[in-house]
Amino acid sequence: MDENAPSLQEYMEVLPQHMDQWKHEQRFVSMHVEKVIACNWKVAYEAFIESYHAIATHPQLMPFQAIDNSQYDVWGDHVSRTITAYGVANPTHADLYTEQQSLDAMMALIDLEDRPQVPPGMTAREVYAQLNLPVANEQAGEDFSERTTMSELMDSTLYSLFPNFAPWAGHGTVITYRHRPNGDDVESCIMEIFLLTRYPEGTESPADAPTYRLNIDQPFSEGAEVMGAGFSNVFNQDGANLPQVQKGLKASKKGTVSLSNYQEVRIRHFHQTLDKYINAK
Ligand SMILES: [Fe+2]
Repeated sequence: MDENAPSLQEYMEVLPQHMDQWKHEQRFVSMHVEKVIACNWKVAYEAFIESYHAIATHPQLMPFQAIDNSQYDVWGDHVSRTITAYGVANPTHADLYTEQQSLDAMMALIDLEDRPQVPPGMTAREVYAQLNLPVANEQAGEDFSERTTMSELMDSTLYSLFPNFAPWAGHGTVITYRHRPNGDDVESCIMEIFLLTRYPEGTESPADAPTYRLNIDQPFSEGAEVMGAGFSNVFNQDGANLPQVQKGLKASKKGTVSLSNYQEVRIRHFHQTLDKYINAK
């Protein structure tokens, strides 16, 4: 133990200030899935701090996520963030979908059987914001209508705190990831997915959901009963990819990974910090 370690507050740098408005103290765990994956914990962590892989790994997201236009930010040593716009097709697919098709694809992901229509003159993004606002209001017991943005109601705003904690931000139910080593086995890890849902201030927190565990041989689709089919399929795609990435690292003749300048800046930032800690020992 480092007796001269900084306080947790100091260690978290800008994160507490950025997360304050999302009231994580006023949320309960509405879903918790953990799965053993056949890759090192860093490989799994890295896969969830960039959106660049989605065009190859998650083609079903292209109609409604502007993946390749994601914004990436890094601060200090420990905190980084991606913001990806929802309700907008990826720029590579911009001409392929109507606003209605974009909205339909988004509804399919969350398994909503109701297919709301995009009225003439409106965008899928605007309709989706209108759908999300009353849900966020009801969960929080507040009215956000005069003090929020479409981005806060739907976009993927995913932070990370070095080394392995990655909370999303936003009004509605948000995801949080945690990637843990699996004991001493460097070839596998435990990935945890939490859904954190607001409850109104002054009311008692609903009980946290029980943990749903998937072993190394069970795909995320086996968790569809708690995750929903569309959502579990996205993780299924990552879960299938990651063991291949782990193998690929060992097959690399170069012995290092070439990271893209911008889209993978968070992964570079993560490894720069990791190197600092390792070299400081
Ligand atoms: Fe992914």
